[in-house]
Amino acid sequence: MPIKMLTLEDLDLDGKRVFARVDINTPIHPETGELMEQARFEEAAMTIGDLGRSRVVVASHQGRVARSDYVSLEAHSKVLANLLGKKVKFVPDVFGPEALSEMDSLKVGEVLVLDNLRFAAEENQEYKPPDAEKTFMVRRIREHIDACVLDAFSTAHRSSPSIVGFAGLVPTCAGRTVGKELRMLDRIFSVEKSPYVTVLGGAKVSDRLEAIDALIANNRADKVLLTGVVGLVFLKAAGKIKWDLGVDGEQKFVAKAKELMADEPDRFGLPIDVAVKANGGRKEVDPAQIAGPAQILDVGSKTVDSYSKFIKGAGTVFMSGPPGAFEYEEFSAGTEGLLRAMASSFGTTIISGGHLSTALRKYGIHDQIDHTSTAGGALVQYLAGKRLPLIDALERAADRWGGKGA
Ligand code: 3PG
Repeated sequence: MPIKMLTLEDLDLDGKRVFARVDINTPIHPETGELMEQARFEEAAMTIGDLGRSRVVVASHQGRVARSDYVSLEAHSKVLANLLGKKVKFVPDVFGPEALSEMDSLKVGEVLVLDNLRFAAEENQEYKPPDAEKTFMVRRIREHIDACVLDAFSTAHRSSPSIVGFAGLVPTCAGRTVGKELRMLDRIFSVEKSPYVTVLGGAKVSDRLEAIDALIANNRADKVLLTGVVGLVFLKAAGKIKWDLGVDGEQKFVAKAKELMADEPDRFGLPIDVAVKANGGRKEVDPAQIAGPAQILDVGSKTVDSYSKFIKGAGTVFMSGPPGAFEYEEFSAGTEGLLRAMASSFGTTIISGGHLSTALRKYGIHDQIDHTSTAGGALVQYLAGKRLPLIDALERAADRWGGKGA
């Protein structure tokens, strides 16, 4: 069913202070601190660019508390300035006096980037919309904005205050990224064919594992090929890894993986070989042969060959989360091999998440994939048929503000 939502054309945003919730959360190189992705910036810049006659307050989160990618958005504001071809202000504050006063002094055509929303404790919690409206973040910012544009499709699965808190309080519409992603997905849903091969990887184990049942129930996972840290959790569950993985919530995840494999062993593909760091380089081994704790950073070449056959024979292939630590040259072969298999598949191909879109560009094959979404966990949930808080917020806003203007 088409989603009911307002677009930039439905609200009169000229001259208004617009809170633009985008997602420029970016992989950060663990050693150099470099921002490794451009795609989400380009998406955000489309919407910000189209708000050229407004006073735009750009808001995004970056990373997760206590992880190495939990950094300020100052460097992000410079990337946006380059893409927009104009000056962009940055304020090292989220909703304190400095941020609020910068919002008030914005002139038409100016863009202000707030600091990492997750520096504010409330953004790290999930709320029902009426409770989100009561947060300090929403109450304070609301006094200094006239409208809200929700464009963070890749954060659509988080009911944080910046996503669900404003729709009932100020005129709210979808940005260009949300519109484009939903249109592309509708198009894909109209032609998708089975068998449906889903390749899951990356380090966000909970996002992937929590959605597997629903992906299967929604006929979007005839075969599930496991890679990345998610793959390690399944290898541990299968008894092929003998040491503790050091993954948060490992017990719970391993138990869930065991349960899934016990129910339908043939549905799941596990890595046959993995690449570990040895003598400063890459060594491919059978995981069951590793005696003690080892840094497993990629899938091995036998796994790439075996998974590639499923990928090439699929009617639809969906890949979410990178198979390996492709930011290191010696551990990029798994990610490159599986992406190349997707690029040469006759099936419909969907790539999900910031890391993989970065990898596709690195290998120069981004134009050989049917849909590259900037969303990772959010897209997994969407394909699994789950309701996404950001989409709910847009539907509520269409009811509340439709036809009324900003
Ligand atoms: C993502 O990269 O999937 C989104 O930016 C959401 O980030 P999160 O998983 O840390 O909430």
